[in-house]
Amino acid sequence: MNYNIALLKGDGIGPEIVESAVRVLEAVGAKFGHTFHFTPYLIGGSAIDATGAPLPEETVKGCLAADSVLLGAVGGPKWDTLPGNLRPEKALLGIRAAMGLFTNLRPAKLYPALKGDCPLRADIVENGFDVMIVRELTGGIYFGDRGYREGKYGEEAFDTESYSRMEIERICRVAFETARKRRKKLTSIDKANVLETSRLWRKIVHEMAAEYPDVELSDMLVDNAAMQLVRNPAQFDVIVTSNMFGDILSDEASQITGSIGMLPSASLNEGTRGLYEPIHGSAPDIAGQGKANPIATVLSAAMMLLYSFNLVEESQAIVSAVDRVLEQGFRTADLSHGAPALTTIQMTDKIIENL
Ligand code: IPM
Ligand code: MG
Repeated sequence: MNYNIALLKGDGIGPEIVESAVRVLEAVGAKFGHTFHFTPYLIGGSAIDATGAPLPEETVKGCLAADSVLLGAVGGPKWDTLPGNLRPEKALLGIRAAMGLFTNLRPAKLYPALKGDCPLRADIVENGFDVMIVRELTGGIYFGDRGYREGKYGEEAFDTESYSRMEIERICRVAFETARKRRKKLTSIDKANVLETSRLWRKIVHEMAAEYPDVELSDMLVDNAAMQLVRNPAQFDVIVTSNMFGDILSDEASQITGSIGMLPSASLNEGTRGLYEPIHGSAPDIAGQGKANPIATVLSAAMMLLYSFNLVEESQAIVSAVDRVLEQGFRTADLSHGAPALTTIQMTDKIIENL
């Protein structure tokens, strides 16, 4: 089969890690008889520098025409002082909205080989953990009304959170279906003791539970969830939550796996076209040094094969290769504890050797 993939390398370490994933995809293509065509488009700070806009029209068109999209990372200190709607991050929100990517899947699991890197006490992670965070990605406070106004005490800023029944239903449906294919446990995380949006969310998710009697649904308040993730992460199977809470909890979940450099993500719409990216940022401090961990991006490519192209065996080949490389003891600098580490390219070579 032939697949057209739009490449959004972005800023910082983005180009290096996307290059790694491209090489791994090419190796998978050679092994399994597929051809991947890659077309690069500008996004983020590099797009601002070249065109004046973080998300050029051509990039949006290219992503909408491709079979799928692979993204590195956007942002950096150079563009941090630009106004909100011109920041590199705005491009990320823009492409999510343009492609209708309302579902964000962020898996976080403890690799047995990386147990020693987990910042949690050994007895807490004795049996590991494997959580799938299903984050709503195109609604809530990220996309609500915002602005500045004159308030009672002078200058004031506001952001608003709103969720419609339709938005809640479609993300919860994805979460129930995901739980059904895993350990059949779904935790819906909200702030229903304070927020109306959370109360509507909670009401709807419980209405829907009747359609999924095989899935055990429970609710958890977000502050408690933040605590439970470090107290006993193994209690979670699938988590479903709003855009903002999912942003925060997924960073927390990533850190307890040992390195944020390991976690992939998939952003999906109702169809098969998705956007795949590591959950980490552009790491400007190590950009261009060839030492970034490419695994999160490589695993994002594996998620693309699974979710956009339904190439189950091919996807698993990448996941298994990464497992083996870690078992063999190979580490990039983020996980080497000061010991000699593999470069981005060497780590990519190792993954390809193990395919
Ligand atoms: C993420 C990031 C983005 C978000 C930022 C860069 C806009 O933190 O993908 O988690 O908040 O969604
Ligand atoms: Mg985030």
